[in-house]
Amino acid sequence: MPWPSETNNDTAIFDLLEAERTRQVTGLQLIASENFASPDVMAATGSVLTNKYSEGYPGKRYYGGNAVVDDIEALAIERVKKLFGADHANVQPHSGASANMAVYLGLLKPGDTVLGLSLDHGGHLTHGSPVNASGILYKFHSFKVGATDERLNFDEIRELAIEHKPKLIVAGTTSYPRRLEPEPFKKIADEVGAMMMFDIAHISGLVAGGAHPNPVPFADVVTFTTHKTLRGPRGGCILCRKELATVIDKAVFPGSQGGPLEHAIAAKAVAFHEALQPSFKEYAHQIVKNAAALAAALASHGFRLVSGGTDTHMMVVDLQPFDAELTGKEAQLVLDTAGITLNRNSIPNDPRSPFVTSGVRIGTPSVTTQGMREAEMPLIAEYIVTVLRNRNDAAKVAEVRAKVAQLCAKFPVYANLKAR
Ligand SMILES: Cc1ncc(COP(=O)(O)O)c(C=O)c1O
Repeated sequence: MPWPSETNNDTAIFDLLEAERTRQVTGLQLIASENFASPDVMAATGSVLTNKYSEGYPGKRYYGGNAVVDDIEALAIERVKKLFGADHANVQPHSGASANMAVYLGLLKPGDTVLGLSLDHGGHLTHGSPVNASGILYKFHSFKVGATDERLNFDEIRELAIEHKPKLIVAGTTSYPRRLEPEPFKKIADEVGAMMMFDIAHISGLVAGGAHPNPVPFADVVTFTTHKTLRGPRGGCILCRKELATVIDKAVFPGSQGGPLEHAIAAKAVAFHEALQPSFKEYAHQIVKNAAALAAALASHGFRLVSGGTDTHMMVVDLQPFDAELTGKEAQLVLDTAGITLNRNSIPNDPRSPFVTSGVRIGTPSVTTQGMREAEMPLIAEYIVTVLRNRNDAAKVAEVRAKVAQLCAKFPVYANLKAR
């Protein structure tokens, strides 16, 4: 029997996909955790592997017909181990959150003590937020960034580690704009006899491209997402020391997941291959250069950059010195209407709620994929400023919307891509 879509021409979703493609390519995508995956990554994601069940691991599956799938997953594993210099890799986690939860399941018992960065100071939900399973099942203690320099303070982290004796220390951030050196975390973990997990969800592409230190030689376990700076499909991955391989694999399957998403795993393999190319190094370094240029341009317009700047792909911008009345929520909304997409973000010790915030987070992975360089960054800053200064003037906002579309047209992505 034919599929209904072949006979009744149900175009509703495909019209919406085309509308979303248009939104993505005609606007500035400045969400720090997003990127434009390559057509090859997307082809693998939309491939026949969508149809396949393959519970288990290469050579040890619970279903038949997995010879090809085994080769694909083995290739993904081989490539990612090479990319990061890891002993062992599990490429099955459906997402970054799933990767983190699997690591906790494998390394901890419910109620065990863990140390991680507080969510409102740049950590992630899965690093012990009370509304997340990590915070519900495990006893997390949080460290914060320093009151004046807004950077991690390793003396404080060490004191907390000595006081609470965690079984695991979680390094890694979701909205922290500075380099995260692995050595100080490792030193503290060794001193208190803790294991160390490094969550490089945001910076995995920078690490792969040599634009950020690689924590693999230092951490017991490294988790990451494949869809942010790494520019792959939506998904997660775990790297670990070989002694932990069995524990980690069991925690992913059967511990916390069922059938792996082999279409996503094939797309991860494509992304790892792309990241192994010399051009990816250039890409990763350009992301950082663009972020620095955009941060400098925004600072020159009167914004305050949390921690004073950025060493990575992102910046957290305190809106208060620019306009004390302006909230992150309002900025996000009005910039969206001008085709500039970013997200509101708490600043450290934000007087406003996480739904409102006094800041925004801005990242350069997507515009760098489009081919924008330092020269375009002051222009982006100027568009942001014009929209925020004229946020009650619809005509002015529309003017910027048109300029944004013109700029994006000079840096086309997915020009020949059709939803189907
Ligand atoms: C540091 C960190 N860990 C984990 C995650 C979770 O990734 P996912 O959204 O794929 O579950 C994120 C997502 O932003 C993150 O920033």
